[in-house]
Amino acid sequence: MIKKIIQSTITEYNKPSELSAEDRNLLNEAGKATGNSYSPYSEFKVGAAALLSNGEIVTGSNQENASYPIGICAERVTLSAVSAVHPKQKIVSLAITFKSKMKWSTPVSPCGICRQTLLEYEQRQKKNIRIILRGEGGKIQIIESAKDLLPLYFDKSVLGK
Ligand code: THU
Repeated sequence: MIKKIIQSTITEYNKPSELSAEDRNLLNEAGKATGNSYSPYSEFKVGAAALLSNGEIVTGSNQENASYPIGICAERVTLSAVSAVHPKQKIVSLAITFKSKMKWSTPVSPCGICRQTLLEYEQRQKKNIRIILRGEGGKIQIIESAKDLLPLYFDKSVLGK
């Protein structure tokens, strides 16, 4: 028997002024994108902003539906928009934040489906995606790769691709 320990690294910052101007701006754009969230059911407005290798920023927000499972998270809306509109660009960083009734200062962490999706985008572009997380104020967390969010991931190698 052997026990294996899996480690992920998260860098935590106390306030936006500790971030680079680029990261701070991206987080700000994600915050603005919460304004486009369509979330009448959860009332939890998530915004995401992707910085592309050409310097452009693409934003997205969660889009819900009366048929609840159809709703799409802000992360996947943003990733799909990048792929559909800027297919040649790589994603350097993805900032994610939210606004809710609770004024919750814990960073939002991507759901399992979004982690799997992020991993595939990272593998497709053959470059890590930095993930920047913040709640409604409070600390900021930076994760250097989607792999850090999803140890023991399932990917195309198992399918012989
Ligand atoms: N949501 C996101 O957009 N991203 C996340 O990382 C977590 C959850 C959305 C889905 C749903 O519209 C609402 O937040 C509440 O779960």
